[in-house]
Amino acid sequence: MSGTSMDSIDTVATHFNVNQPAIIGTHSHAIPKALRDNVVALCHENADTVQRYAETDVHMGEILADASLALMSQLNLTPHNVAAIGSHGQTVRHAPPGLNRVAFSQQIGDPNVISARTGCQVVADFRRADIANGGQGAPLVPAFHQSAFHDPQHHRVILNIGGIANISSLPPEGVVCGFDTGPGNRLLDDWCQLHHERAFDGNGVWAASGKASKHLLEHLQKHPFFAERGPKSTGRELFNLDWLNEALASSDLSETNLAPADVQATLLELTVDSVASSIERLDGQVEEVYVCGGGAHNGALMSCLRNRLLPVKLDTTEALGIGPDWVEAVAFAWLAMRRINRLPGNVTNVTGACSPSVLGGIYHVTPK
Ligand SMILES: Nc1ncnc2c1ncn2[C@@H]1O[C@H](COP(=O)(O)OP(=O)(O)O)[C@@H](O)[C@H]1O
Ligand SMILES: [Mg+2]
Repeated sequence: MSGTSMDSIDTVATHFNVNQPAIIGTHSHAIPKALRDNVVALCHENADTVQRYAETDVHMGEILADASLALMSQLNLTPHNVAAIGSHGQTVRHAPPGLNRVAFSQQIGDPNVISARTGCQVVADFRRADIANGGQGAPLVPAFHQSAFHDPQHHRVILNIGGIANISSLPPEGVVCGFDTGPGNRLLDDWCQLHHERAFDGNGVWAASGKASKHLLEHLQKHPFFAERGPKSTGRELFNLDWLNEALASSDLSETNLAPADVQATLLELTVDSVASSIERLDGQVEEVYVCGGGAHNGALMSCLRNRLLPVKLDTTEALGIGPDWVEAVAFAWLAMRRINRLPGNVTNVTGACSPSVLGGIYHVTPK
């Protein structure tokens, strides 16, 4: 699994006992800078040539295979021990229905390459079946959250703060619902990288040193995505530095001359507010929120969120038995298991697909 943050490839080996995951081992694999630069280029319409796309697809497949092999070697696993590798791939474009002429979601990292290099069966290309059935293709994690974290007594929400943030609402009775809430860490990372030589604002210390601007926050909150009801999903196509810079240059803000730390504080507030407002608007009385994704390590973000959501209890998914860094990777292992068993992986009222869908394709290039 590698999300919009492109911080690293999260690799887990997990065994499923009925539906409950038991993590055997984990490995975080670095993404080489040249590869990351090519992926970033592919995310921009002017630089996304077919040649670059095809080459980066292979290179990403190679590094995803390396990540899997490193974990297999760490755990002394051979291809015989591995039922399947579930590979989400690296998203280069997410264009859900509604906004676009043609709906699509494109992930790269050739599963043929992963299978050839590892000798394992690979399940990949999870999102396009849901889109073919009229869905958003995202988020796909709620079915797994329901299966692993549902509690018959308490209304839980699982909040994933990756580059983009998404929630899964798990009422004690009734159906799971979920959607993307908007920016998670990605804008915070982008703004931090612009002003400091750091990939991210560790623990949110820089954001905490600034003062959020009410003006800028209100301006950013006018983005229509925030008011929309689900099904909805998004990516860096909507929430990026160009969007932020446009806001900063707009007539009501260009005079205010905000310090960079104040902008960072405002972006943190934007993530907190969009997540909290989404949770507040859910049906039913949410009692517990469990955070996963890299945002769980951002102390400033977590403490703002905790205060904002009171009296709702806030913790990380560590309290439910899976460390926040590994939940999404385990979810795609679970989805791979669903594919092999020919069971649906989407939740239709989450993605808006017209029917439950078996997600992903199976690639096994080694002859039996
Ligand atoms: N110690 C930390 N302090 C603040 N932010 C952190 C910390 N560790 C990770 N993050 C944030 O989490 C991001 C990675 O989150 P992740 O869940 O992997 O996102 P994605 O799914 O988009 O790859 C980093 O880019 C960074 O913004
Ligand atoms: Mg990541």
